[in-house]
Amino acid sequence: MADLLLAQITDTHAVDPGAEPDSIVDNNARLTATVASLLAENPAPALIIHTGDATDDSRPGEFDELERRLEPIRPRLRMLPGNHDERTELRNRFPDQAWADAEHGSWTDEIAGVRILGLDSTEPGRHGGQLDDERLTWLDTELRRNDLPTVLCVHHPPFRSGLAWMDDGRIRPEGALDEIVAAAPHLERIWCGHLHRPITTTVGGVTTQTCPTTSQPVALDLRPGQTISMVAEPAAYNLHLRTDAGWVTHTRFVGLEVEPIVPDWAR
Ligand SMILES: [Fe+2]
Ligand SMILES: [Fe+2]
Repeated sequence: MADLLLAQITDTHAVDPGAEPDSIVDNNARLTATVASLLAENPAPALIIHTGDATDDSRPGEFDELERRLEPIRPRLRMLPGNHDERTELRNRFPDQAWADAEHGSWTDEIAGVRILGLDSTEPGRHGGQLDDERLTWLDTELRRNDLPTVLCVHHPPFRSGLAWMDDGRIRPEGALDEIVAAAPHLERIWCGHLHRPITTTVGGVTTQTCPTTSQPVALDLRPGQTISMVAEPAAYNLHLRTDAGWVTHTRFVGLEVEPIVPDWAR
């Protein structure tokens, strides 16, 4: 099997240029810089998966801004709703992907013999997300459909991160995915967003990662009871490379304006 390279971006939180900023960084400028970085990737990722919170508040002007800035990579994009996105509006704005024949914003795709499942974990009005029986049944059915290597993308991470204020409203019901993913022998990775930080763990025995945000990162602060705290670290995204030996994930930082240098000792 030839190597397969996929990109994951998340939590772009596009804002309406006319609205009061709700971020410690310029979300839209960072999104444009991220798109430029993705276009410069060599080799080019075959798909670019957006794991949600595409907009900050689902306003029409935010979706306009999002679409305009994502335009150069649009043919390779797959969008998944986050808690900041109105799922029907997201589906209407990105009608070309294989959305589930259901009210939720889940979808399936396949590339180079690898299946990708996007599971909508959003619940209108709830920050932390929720999975109902309909979506859990959809996921279980899709995971059993064939024996291709599979990746599951879901906005809300199904684990406790130790970031106290983000964990407060985490996905319900607790442990909803554990049994389903543990019983899916071909599921190789779970890729999430929402936490605005890169984090790795296992869920039901499956390696599970959150992708860093392209907008404002959450501060790395593991004190119990820690409240909302952001930090102006660089925008970043993940590159997932699948080789014959399995998946490896790299993180690309954006906007540092650093060019690779060959040190003297290597010349
Ligand atoms: Fe977010
Ligand atoms: Fe989120």
